[in-house]
Amino acid sequence: MQATAIAQPNIALIKYWGKRDAERNLPAVGSISITLRELYTRMRVRFDDSAERDSLTVNGVPDRQMLPRLSACLDRVAGPARSSARIDSSCNFPIAAGLASSASSFAALTVAGAAAAGRRLERGALASLAGRASGSAARSLFGGFVELANAGDDIEVGTIREARDWPLSVVVAITESGPKRVGSTEAMEISRRTSPFYASWVERQDRDLDAAREAIAGRDFPGLAAIAEHNCLKMHSIMWASRPPTVFWNAATMRCLQTVRRLQADGVDVFFTIDAGPQVKAVCLRDGISDVEAALRATAGVTDVATTGLGDGARLEAGA
Ligand code: PMV
Repeated sequence: MQATAIAQPNIALIKYWGKRDAERNLPAVGSISITLRELYTRMRVRFDDSAERDSLTVNGVPDRQMLPRLSACLDRVAGPARSSARIDSSCNFPIAAGLASSASSFAALTVAGAAAAGRRLERGALASLAGRASGSAARSLFGGFVELANAGDDIEVGTIREARDWPLSVVVAITESGPKRVGSTEAMEISRRTSPFYASWVERQDRDLDAAREAIAGRDFPGLAAIAEHNCLKMHSIMWASRPPTVFWNAATMRCLQTVRRLQADGVDVFFTIDAGPQVKAVCLRDGISDVEAALRATAGVTDVATTGLGDGARLEAGA
């Protein structure tokens, strides 16, 4: 009746933006991501017949805000007739600030919840369940380079290249640590309804996925850099052109992009990507880590820098 799981966030190189079915939370487009190693969310789920309702602590503090989404996820994982759950979550990075905390949270919750309920599910089925709660969470079930594709009225997720085959690093530049102002579900819906660029985004996504898959297969860093930066800027352009506009960037976000451009001009293999928040993720080869870290740390407005390699998919914790 109790289990603990750990999951790492993932960073999309080819982004998921927009839903084809809001009810089932199915994405309008496929995506490709990398699962990180050093950042994590740990979730303990304990089903308790004596508890009247679900409860949640986040880093030891009771939290009501996230609870409804977590409870709905557990209903899908363990069935609506389940006992009440005590959920304890801990996370070693800022929550809800564009660092994919929902991805690692729902991936860990799905794995822990299924085990606590005594359900043995394949990784693909766990990914589908996690994806119902947060589209990007489905990718955190897998390690390394991960592709999520639409498949009928479901999704299909899997590793396309192991982390050890191409051990890229990610330097995350934190420019703001508070929670984001607009959630990604709401921002996606505004984009879908009002952005003049949305239809062409959906239409062209397969080409970007093909280019990224090919670059990853050939370990072609400049190829991956070009398509990932293009896809990221395209996603933000959709939002900037929506009504009302959604702008997740701040001045330091822009300065980080200039820092990455300067590093590239100096011959460092690095590229940027930005999600639904103001943080900048700089993806680089291992040789470049110290240059990239130093340059981002010295960028005005950057409050912290965290460096991580690529990691594994969500898993149960031994002995938990
Ligand atoms: O899974 P959600 O609803 O948090 O949306 C994730 C959206 C992006 O992070 C911006 C892109 C992605 O593919 O992760």
